[in-house]
Amino acid sequence: MRHTDEVKRPDTEVLPITEGVKWIGVIDYDIVTFDVVMTTDYGTTYNSYFIDAEKKALVETSKEKYWDTYLEKLRKVTDPSEIEYIILNHTEPDHSGNLSNMLEVAPGATVVGTRLAINYLKDFMGRDFKHMVVKDGDTLDLGNKTLRFIGAANLHWPDSMYTYLEEDKLLFTCDSFGCHYAHPDMYDDKVGDFSEAFKYYFDVILKPFSKFLLKAIEKIRPLEINAVLTGHGPLLINDWKKWVDLSEEYAKEALATPQKDHVFIPYVSAYHNTGRMAEAIGEGIKSQGDFTVEVRDIETMPLGDLDAKVARSSALIVGCPTINQNILLPIYKLFAVISPIRDNRKVGGSFGSFGWSGEGKKLINTMLANLKLDVQGEGVFVKFTPQEDELALCREYGQQIGQQLQKKQ
Ligand code: FEO
Repeated sequence: MRHTDEVKRPDTEVLPITEGVKWIGVIDYDIVTFDVVMTTDYGTTYNSYFIDAEKKALVETSKEKYWDTYLEKLRKVTDPSEIEYIILNHTEPDHSGNLSNMLEVAPGATVVGTRLAINYLKDFMGRDFKHMVVKDGDTLDLGNKTLRFIGAANLHWPDSMYTYLEEDKLLFTCDSFGCHYAHPDMYDDKVGDFSEAFKYYFDVILKPFSKFLLKAIEKIRPLEINAVLTGHGPLLINDWKKWVDLSEEYAKEALATPQKDHVFIPYVSAYHNTGRMAEAIGEGIKSQGDFTVEVRDIETMPLGDLDAKVARSSALIVGCPTINQNILLPIYKLFAVISPIRDNRKVGGSFGSFGWSGEGKKLINTMLANLKLDVQGEGVFVKFTPQEDELALCREYGQQIGQQLQKKQ
């Protein structure tokens, strides 16, 4: 459910975190999807932080579209030309999009990031700029404050790192521990319940990188921390530990999967012809061993649930009718949550009913192969209603998949 208009206030505020650190980020109430890959029912924020040290610094910038708002907030805390360092923990343009603009108003600033981050930024901007490459354990002296950089690669790009402000005990983590949740009050104890947005963000953005997140969490555990300051969503000041612990729990859950004996048979079906085929394939698989087989019509399944089921399974047998020479939108959404990194070499299969030419077979099998699944044969595709002999073929196909899974085990 989106926020009501009463929650939305004009986005002009700068918020204190510690005496020398202020949030100067931007609130985007109206974004509908993020990076095309996820819905943003609660909007989002592009968090940026100003560190008022002897040498003034920014952590992250914001999305280019919001330059005017961002500059207005920055001017409330300093003369932009006095900024000496711009730290980018991650370079995706929702955080780095205003770097070019920033370098116009702060031409003496040095951009600080990992080697990959600096390379990516050169590609984004098509030019070189004054920069400093940092690695795990490096520090940057801001005069009366010290930044320490913590290697945290692959969260969720290879360029990522965390930054720790030692004197204030603040940890800046960009996308890690963030969520798409816009609220003008920003502090974690003032914005209401954002746990649903937090979980969904984890599922879509961080879950495929759970292994790396656990490593990063291990690194930050010994730190004394007053607040975790992310790139999106509420400022985790009141109870940052809750959100780090929750992320650790989710990441461990994600790595406990897939279960070797779990088979997911997602399908859609207009007249239950494809549905009957799904059930018959499921029976065939079960006949070959002690498998947990989940046969589900995914037409209305939320993306987060779909992703969790794909992650948990060691085989995905995908069913869809061919309609107007194409397959249907829920199956394309399923393809969108399959991760070639996470789901690489899982057993894949296909089936479906068709009326005329049956393009579904090629479309599904090609997509599954392109997504790096181990596709078993050409699947089973039948014209209109599956008859008994065709349902027997489905059971046989299920048996073959069951045998293949036994071999893999
Ligand atoms: Fe929020 Fe990966 O950028």
